[in-house]
Amino acid sequence: MTDTKHKPLCFSGMQPTNSLHIGNYLGALKNWVKLQDQMTCVYCVVDLHALTQESGYAQPAELTRSIREVTAAYIACGVDPTRVILFNQSQVPEHAELAWVFNCVARIGWLDRMTQFKEKSGKHKERASVGLYTYPVLMAADILLYKGTHVPVGEDQRQHLELARDIAQKFNNDFHAPNFFPQPEPVITGPGTRVMSLRDGTKKMSKSDESDFSRINLTDDADAIAQKIRKARTDPLPLPAHKDELKDRPEAENLLNIYAALADQDRDTVIAQFAGQQFSGFKQALADL
Ligand code: AQP
Repeated sequence: MTDTKHKPLCFSGMQPTNSLHIGNYLGALKNWVKLQDQMTCVYCVVDLHALTQESGYAQPAELTRSIREVTAAYIACGVDPTRVILFNQSQVPEHAELAWVFNCVARIGWLDRMTQFKEKSGKHKERASVGLYTYPVLMAADILLYKGTHVPVGEDQRQHLELARDIAQKFNNDFHAPNFFPQPEPVITGPGTRVMSLRDGTKKMSKSDESDFSRINLTDDADAIAQKIRKARTDPLPLPAHKDELKDRPEAENLLNIYAALADQDRDTVIAQFAGQQFSGFKQALADL
């Protein structure tokens, strides 16, 4: 093994569980599309990850349908299959093979710190699948199999990427192969890196939230989007005139962030535009956007 410099390569993936929402789009997909002009990109539908959840594991026909829908969503959002490598994870058995090697490199203490496992396993940790626990190790294998250097994801994946970096580093040290694996860099930029639920501004917008009113799906039509935004939780105050006034107003902050991310503006510009206005007018503008 030689000490090499790594060519820029972008890798990312999404789970085919339910349909994608604007959090997935603004947090990750928008950056996927930008990066395909800058470097080699490998984009994956991570169907093995979907098996960690009951919906993926127990309903194979549903999983097949979701894989196709998520692939269609990637393309609809601007991922160009003639310029990037686009595939589903289970077609390439080496993802699972490298994950096993990395399971032997990663330490239990590292995985015990992963907050997403704690959130997803909830109160019944001992009944969660082992797959859910080692999910971030498979994610590290996904990226490092291609020696990925750039990983466009939402803020919620930052901790998993740090783990991927730790695994790469330990592997390189253990096998005296400095630079065998790169240290993948997170690409987490813009005001949409953590889109929150429309029903509760302290919770992440998620595909698996029970309430469909908590998210805007990429497949929702204009009427459904307008209705969800109209019903989105807010507070009784008018829109703020300065970002400091967003403290303790998570719902207002979330809607302003979504507007800024969709309009490709910075949040201060959006705050200035709607300062002092009522939510009803702002929500209409957001739905139109
Ligand atoms: N709310 C969000 N805001 C910004 N980015 C987000 N992402 C997910 N939710 C938000 C990013 O989208 C990509 C897809 O991630 P995933 O499908 O592998 O799983 P996830 O992060 O667990 O997404 P969900 O929507 O919460 O799905 P479920 O409910 O199925 O677990 C990632 O880049 C993620 O950061």
